[in-house]
Amino acid sequence: MSVSFDPERVTLVDHPLVQHKLSILRDKRTGTKQFRDLIGELALFEGYEATRDLPLEDVQVETPICAAPCRQLSGRKLAIVPILRAGLGMVDGLLELVPAARVGHIGMYRDEETHEPHEYYCKLPVDVDQRICLLVDPMLATGGSATAALGYLRKQGVRDVRLLCIVAAPEGIAAVQEADPDVHIYTCAIDEGLNDAAYIVPGLGDAGDRIFGTL
Ligand code: PRP
Ligand code: URA
Repeated sequence: MSVSFDPERVTLVDHPLVQHKLSILRDKRTGTKQFRDLIGELALFEGYEATRDLPLEDVQVETPICAAPCRQLSGRKLAIVPILRAGLGMVDGLLELVPAARVGHIGMYRDEETHEPHEYYCKLPVDVDQRICLLVDPMLATGGSATAALGYLRKQGVRDVRLLCIVAAPEGIAAVQEADPDVHIYTCAIDEGLNDAAYIVPGLGDAGDRIFGTL
């Protein structure tokens, strides 16, 4: 049975370089260092898309030649919020794009039997409700972890949340959209679905284990 979701609230980041890197990432022969590097690179590509609408203001800059009308970022600041542990792999790539962003952490693990998320740690910037939050986790499978993390951010008063993952299952996208009508999802791939263990098919296996070499 196919799962439907609102494509208007999903951005597929499918630049040729992204597709190439994702193929290496999926390959079971790819080792920990290369896997970790690729996750960071893909996060940077996604961050580029997810920040495309940031507001700008006019500024005047003196070049060595003359005064030039220029544009700079204005308005609300960013927070990057990885879902531990695998989300950590995306943080450095995003900080390369937005070095001044604050970083919050939400610790969540999925019960291997029930696939339900369990929260074990949360630490967010004090002014998180004033920031645009990039909630990051490479895998959106059932959507349980992302939905719980989103709910937590909403409880803290965060209005603008953008969920960045690398591989998503249609089931996960649908679950997140149902739980939160305002979140926008960015992903490099939308895969076929989930297997009996709620792993994404074809997916890339266990992202956290592959990033941290705990296979
Ligand atoms: C993985 C992944 C997501 C979650 C996705 O984390 O990084 O957080 O599973 O699955 P879901 O959409 O069905 O909730 P895991 O619980 O394996 O923890 P880890 O990041 O510490 O490896
Ligand atoms: N978590 C992962 O790391 N991979 C999956 O395919 C599903 C959940």
